[in-house]
Amino acid sequence: MKRRLKNILVTGGAGFIGTNFIHYLFKNKFFEGIIVNIDKITYAGNLENLRDVEQRFGGERYFFEKADINDFDKIKAIFDGYEIDTVVHFAAESHVDRSLHGPKEFLHTNVMGTFNLLEVARKCWTGEEKKKKLFHHISTDEVYGSTKEMKYFLESTAYQPNSPYSASKACSDHLARVFYKTYGLPVTISNCSNNYGPYQFPEKLVPLMILNILDEKILPVYGDGKNVRDWLYVEDHCSAIWKILNQGKIGETYNIGGENEWENIRLVHFLCEKIGQLNGKDKDYYNKLITFVKDRPGHDRRYAINCDKIKQELGWKQEVDVEEGLEMTVKWYMNNPEWVDRVKSGEYKNWIKKNYKMR
Ligand SMILES: NC(=O)c1ccc[n+]([C@@H]2O[C@H](COP(=O)([O-])OP(=O)(O)OC[C@H]3O[C@@H](n4cnc5c(N)ncnc54)[C@H](O)[C@@H]3O)[C@@H](O)[C@H]2O)c1
Repeated sequence: MKRRLKNILVTGGAGFIGTNFIHYLFKNKFFEGIIVNIDKITYAGNLENLRDVEQRFGGERYFFEKADINDFDKIKAIFDGYEIDTVVHFAAESHVDRSLHGPKEFLHTNVMGTFNLLEVARKCWTGEEKKKKLFHHISTDEVYGSTKEMKYFLESTAYQPNSPYSASKACSDHLARVFYKTYGLPVTISNCSNNYGPYQFPEKLVPLMILNILDEKILPVYGDGKNVRDWLYVEDHCSAIWKILNQGKIGETYNIGGENEWENIRLVHFLCEKIGQLNGKDKDYYNKLITFVKDRPGHDRRYAINCDKIKQELGWKQEVDVEEGLEMTVKWYMNNPEWVDRVKSGEYKNWIKKNYKMR
């Protein structure tokens, strides 16, 4: 049975995946309701990503509210004001390296912020009406820790986080589950692998490497480069979330993966070769930029996800081949130099002030 989704609250909608999710909903005509995007606009939030959505749907089907997910009163007013029936919770501090240097902010946003949102939902969604609501919590496969060759993370795999980021996400997953178990809040959870695609902040591996290759700067690769990650095109992640919102079973967790396990060094070589081709350079031209650097503390060796459950139970599947997805991503960064310049220089913050009237 499909749920009726009307007024969706997206948290962290100005970040990488949130932006792509909002585009996905407005691009595909199956959604007719409204989206309220709440975002604190940290260094990772960029409203420029949603300028076209704002122009086409702003004030009618799309609303932006600058808010911290820790602000109970403001979030509650938004819930009440827009009669929110669905939450898609992306907002988080999301970069592992930053969590090593400053874990506190990760606990504040990812743990306490999630707790606060769950509390608002619990207070606002009561009685029989509660059955028609859904709180979907977005999480990561990093909560499962590192896994050995030929082993895969299942939804039942025990949590073993190894960084402040993954520990904070693990804690938020537990809270979401507890709100279902204890208070009967209608919750679903998804844990997904590494996303790549347009609008990703260039501190993450794929855009960092693309932009450094284009600038002919060093390509820093941790350790021996043999850490394995599973790569998922962001639009495939969005379609999986959409499936869960419509058909996911309350109280369940769904793993989402690309089923593309690549060593980091293979990914970097692929990007070097692809950009070489597009720029008319020799096949190996950019490889000389690769520089192995001291490994990250607690660096998980391998993430590998089993996503049979969402495939079998909800009929989801990935549509984008990893090599094609990476090529599309490379071309997106090459075709959007102004976006890249503004993000890299921090100038996008001024752009937002100049071009965007905060509600
Ligand atoms: N990127 C990935 O590969 C990946 C993989 C698995 C899971 N996830 C999860 O998906 C979600 C989105 O990740 P992303 O890569 O888009 O992150 P991102 O860092 O690009 O975006 C996060 C967004 O949240 C906002 N935000 C941060 N703190 C906030 C607060 N206190 N209140 C309101 N807004 C706040 C930021 O301004 C930003 O717009 C996160 O929960 C992350 O843990 C990401």
